[in-house]
This record gives sequence, structure tokens and C-alpha cells, in this order.
Amino acid sequence: MRIDIITVLPELLESPFAHSMMKRAQARGLLEVHTHDLRDHTPYKHGQVDDYQFGGGAGMVMMPEPLALVIEKLKEERQYDEIIFMTPDGLQFEQKMANKLSLAANLIIICGHYKGIDERIRQHFVSMEISIGDYVLSGGELAAAVVVDAVGRLLPGVLNDETSALSDSYQDGVLAPPVYTRPADFRGWKVPDVLLCGDPKKIEAWRHEQSLQRTAERRPGLLDNAGQE
Ligand code: ADE
Repeated sequence: MRIDIITVLPELLESPFAHSMMKRAQARGLLEVHTHDLRDHTPYKHGQVDDYQFGGGAGMVMMPEPLALVIEKLKEERQYDEIIFMTPDGLQFEQKMANKLSLAANLIIICGHYKGIDERIRQHFVSMEISIGDYVLSGGELAAAVVVDAVGRLLPGVLNDETSALSDSYQDGVLAPPVYTRPADFRGWKVPDVLLCGDPKKIEAWRHEQSLQRTAERRPGLLDNAGQE
């Protein structure tokens, strides 16, 4: 999978993809992340990429021309499955969306800044708008990093234990069960006996029950949809 990220702050996106799973995904040739500094593509003087909004009001708006030029250049080079704009008024990002996006070959992600991007780019280029939650970040970069991480780790071959993504919270519409490691007795706090019993069926049944219980306690709304897809 190839992901092209359009940003005014490429430095902000260096670290999130340089470690752990994202590093491995790239090292294994399963994921390519390319960042494009919008200022390198602007036809305006002094790297200008934003301007005052028509009609007045505080805050600058990202101009359409630099964005259109980068998007068009990328589209000439390859076909994109989605052109995504990160924005707090987009569709709420969730595991199902990450699963779907992990099947794509090429994605463009546009990171907004200031008051956002000129509406005409959203109307004429963007195919999907994603929010990572009901709060406002100073820019789309951190949100884009969240999406790339959630999608990238699903690519076959990225996780060493192929089953581990399947047992993530949300993957079957329920939260993951609690996990324990050594020592079995830590300061008198003991690991549940069932996990030490060696019977995989019993362990699986306990995990399933714990998942349901945790979901009922913390996110009861998820149970209404669990197992429907
Ligand atoms: N840009 C600013 N806030 C955002 C959010 N919550 N989700 C996605 N992009 C954003």
C-alpha cells in the first residue's frame, strides 16, 4: 500500500512512521508513506499556502491552488482509491473503516491547518472525510498518523502473529479481554487460575466471557451491533 500525505508540517510526520510496526511495515515493503510539503508546490511567493477567508472572520484558509497542484500531480502518476481529508466534521474513524481502507492500494491524505481548506477542494477532489474524534486538533497531521497506523498494522505480514490483529478490541465489535504476564503472583495479586490451567477451551471461554463483560460495563452500545458484520 502507498499513502501520500499532503501537509504544511512534514516534520510532524517523521517520528510516527519511524518506529515499531510502521517502521517494520515499510522495511518489509508492505507500506510506503510519502509526505509532500505543500509549500514546495505553491505557485505563490514566499511559500504562501493560506489566505484570509472571504466574507471576513478570524483564521486563515488553505488556498485551493497549491492543494490542487499536488493532488493532480499525484493522480497523474497513479490511481488512488480514496482522497481523504482529515477534519473534525468528517465521518468518525473506527475499526471497520480501518479494515476497509487496509484493502486499498493507494491513498492520499490531506492534512488541514488553520481554519481548514477551501471548500472547492473538498467538493471536487476529496472522496472521503475522516474525523478521529469529537475534538479539534491544531492540524490534521496527528489524526493522519492515527489513521495510517491503524490501517498499516492490518496489512498482511506487518504483525508477526497474524492472529493478533483479530483479537484486538473492536475487531469483533467487542472490547479485548484482560491480559497478564509473569510473574503469576505479583505482590500478592494473582493471575486468574483459569489462565494457568493449560486447557485452551476453558481459556477461550473465559476470555470470551471477560470480553463481553468488559464491553457491557464500558461500552454497552457496542453489544447492539456485535457480530452483525
Ligand atoms: N483536524 C483537526 N481536528 C481533527 C479531528 N478531530 N479529526 C481529524 N482531523 C482533524
